[in-house]
Order: sequence, then structure tokens, then C-alpha cells
Amino acid sequence: MTKKPSPIVGRHVIWFSWKLVITFSASLCVFALFRFHYQPADLSFSTPLTRIRYSHEEFHGRAKIAFLFLACRNLPLDFLWGSFFENADVANFSIYIHSAPGFVFDESTTRSHFFYGRQLSNSIQVLWGESSMIEAERLLLTAALEEPANQRFVLLSDSCVPLYNFSYIYNYVMASQRSFVDSFLDVKEGRYNPKMSPKIARKKWRKGSQWITLVRSHAEVIVDDEVFLSIFKRFCKRRPPVDASKGKLNIKLQKQHNCIPDEHYMPTLLVMHGLEGELERRTLTYTLWNQSATKMENKGWHPLTFTYGNAGPRNIKKIKDINHVYYAAESRAEWCRSNSTSVPCFLFARKFSLGAAMRLLSEGVVGRFDTAALLDAPP
Ligand SMILES: *[C@@H]1O[C@H](CO)[C@@H](O)[C@H](O)[C@H]1NC(C)=O
Ligand SMILES: *[C@@H]1O[C@H](CO)[C@@H](O)[C@H](O)[C@H]1NC(C)=O
Ligand SMILES: *[C@@H]1O[C@H](CO)[C@@H](O)[C@H](O)[C@H]1NC(C)=O
Ligand SMILES: *[C@@H]1O[C@H](CO)[C@@H](O)[C@H](O)[C@H]1NC(C)=O
Repeated sequence: MTKKPSPIVGRHVIWFSWKLVITFSASLCVFALFRFHYQPADLSFSTPLTRIRYSHEEFHGRAKIAFLFLACRNLPLDFLWGSFFENADVANFSIYIHSAPGFVFDESTTRSHFFYGRQLSNSIQVLWGESSMIEAERLLLTAALEEPANQRFVLLSDSCVPLYNFSYIYNYVMASQRSFVDSFLDVKEGRYNPKMSPKIARKKWRKGSQWITLVRSHAEVIVDDEVFLSIFKRFCKRRPPVDASKGKLNIKLQKQHNCIPDEHYMPTLLVMHGLEGELERRTLTYTLWNQSATKMENKGWHPLTFTYGNAGPRNIKKIKDINHVYYAAESRAEWCRSNSTSVPCFLFARKFSLGAAMRLLSEGVVGRFDTAALLDAPP
């Protein structure tokens, strides 16, 4: 098979000409481990802007899903994804990776040829709780929009796994004319900064998982946005940790809004454009939250990592059997649908260790078990 990856040409984007001020050295990886979070549901395992850049003609060729990976460096679960894509039709998907600037995907850094050369050439340093996370997501969308065949855009982390084979995921995602975006009212936390109010009304402020799947028109809205991005950069910032050397200044600093841009930007932006009605308001990516931390303020929330031990068929089936999600903040039960048909809620899950991903592979979750993938020595 010839699978020569087409080169990724970085679009020249003006909003990226400014230089990032690097204040924290912690990276996306650390962020992913300790981010504060909400409880999205009872899943205990129990002013429109004019768009100018793109045409809106219907696409008539073979539609592709663009898989957009946000990685720290390499993709540790590449062997599983490799097997997943092996069972796909190359005309049905494309891959884009945002990784550390300068990191290259080739024979020495990945076990799967599907990832060779698929990293963006204009990656940025992604920092903990900073707007650089949404910038990275926008870079991925910008690159993927270059290809007209890309009709759906799936954001994934480097610890995400597919829970089904390719054709199942393709049909599910393509059947829906709506984006899948976790989006709910954020009433409890003080993340909304009243200084945003001239542009973003409190009632339009949303929260939701960053792991979204978009239709093309919504991806365009996100890439074209300049207005709300700049508001987020000014007013949605992570509160800095207490720093003893700052003395009394800490009192003032700790009164700042503590905001995590990537948990608010996309859903809020889509609401601001009047697009909420075009969404399935849920994420396709399952996350297992550490329940035992419930009693601690919202600080305790962080995702658990699946290991070989708890990624067995019974636990995976429990995830696949989930057919609705409950949003306590809105007393809303979201029954999971794609094109008005009842479907399982989740197509992907995180966070998976190497062992957990190997178990999925050997259980045939993504398709025919490919021993070669397991035998390949890690890079
Ligand atoms: C893909 O998965 C679906 C649902 O699990 C199954 O019905 C189908 O036979 C599988 N297709 C292939 C090609 O393995
Ligand atoms: C690829 O796309 C075509 C047309 O959209 C579809 O009929 C086919 O089932 C897809 N193949 C896979 C493996 O998903
Ligand atoms: C969506 O559902 C309708 C009605 O069941 C069906 O006719 C149509 O083909 C479906 N669309 C896709 C893209 O599957
Ligand atoms: C869950 O969170 C609690 C409290 O933060 C912690 O003590 C515990 O080790 C966590 N459990 C796992 C499995 O990470």
C-alpha cells in the first residue's frame, strides 16, 4: 500500500505572529495529570461574524475524518492507533499531530507509519492552563481545514484510545450533521469573569470537555475567531499558585479568576455564534474521574488512568453500554444520539496506559488482533 503522507503546509496566520510569554515551565503533560475538573455526569463506572476564508459548497467526494492529536511529544499508544488505521480505508481519514515544537514523527519516534511526517510544522509550546492549549487546537483545525475532504474533526489526546473499529466510528460520526461538543451552564464556579460581560454575557458562558468532534462549518468558526480568543486571553487565565516570595501580593493574586481556557472557549464560542442548536451537547470521549476526591473542593478532580488490570472486557463493556449523560448543573439528561438514532455515548476513552492499550489490542477492540503491532519493539 502506498501511504505517502501529504505535506502539512502551515497556513500563515496573523494571530500567531505574537510571541508567547512563557511563565510556567510545566507542560501539557503535567496539565493533563493535575487539571482541576468538574463532574460532567453520573457516569460512575458507574453576534455572528462573517466568515470569509472558506467556501461553503457541499463536498461531493469521499468524506474524511481528520484525527487531530494533541501530544506532549510522541504518541505512546501509536501501536493501537496503527492497528485501528490498518483496518480503515486510507481514503477515509487523515491525521494531524500537534506536538512539542521540533518533534518529528518518523521511524525512530513512532511504531506506526500512519504518523510519519504528520506533525504540524508550526507547533507551539503548550502550557498548563494557558490559552496556548486552545491555540494548539486552532492550529490543528487550521491545518486540517486545508484539505476539503476533511468533513469531521476529532480532537484527541495522546492518552486517548478508540473503543471501536474504524468503520463503526466513521459511520457514527459521519451520520451526524451536528458537532459533538460537551457544553453546559457553568453556574457554580467563579470562572466567569464579569469583565467579559460587554462581549460575553454570563448566560452564554459554557463549560465542557475539550475533547470535541466538529463538523466543518463549526471548525471554520473556531479558526476564524479573533474576537473571543482575545477576550479569553485577557480574562480567562489560570490563577497562579501561591508564591511565598510574593508576600502580601498573594492575597491579591489569589482573588483573581481561576479560569481554564480550553474548558470554556469552544463551547462558549459556539453559543456566541448561535450554534448551540447544531450540537450534540456531549463529548465522545469517556473520562473516568477519581470519585474518592468528591469531598475535596473541585481541586480533587482528576482523571484516573486505565491500567492493564482495569481495562478488561467487562469494564470496557460498561463504558460502551452508557447511553446517556446527566448534567447536574442543568438537570439535563442527554440521551446519546447520532442522526436521531440512539447510539452508545462514547467512541473514545482516556487516559490509557501502555498496558491498558495493549489489552484493548489483544481483545480485538479496534479490529483483528495484530500480533505484529505488539511484537514491534518500542522506539
Ligand atoms: C466493526 O465493529 C462493529 C461493531 O462493533 C461490528 O459490527 C463490525 O462487524 C466491525 N467491522 C469490522 C470490519 O470489523
Ligand atoms: C469509507 O467511506 C466510504 C464512503 O464514505 C464508506 O462506504 C466505507 O464504509 C468507509 N470505509 C470504512 C472502512 O470505514
Ligand atoms: C439519517 O437518518 C435518516 C432517517 O433515518 C436517514 O434517511 C439518513 O440516511 C441518515 N443519514 C445518514 C448520513 O446516515
Ligand atoms: C483519588 O483521589 C484521592 C484524593 O485526592 C487520592 O488519595 C487517591 O489516591 C486517588 N486515587 C487514585 C486511584 O488515583
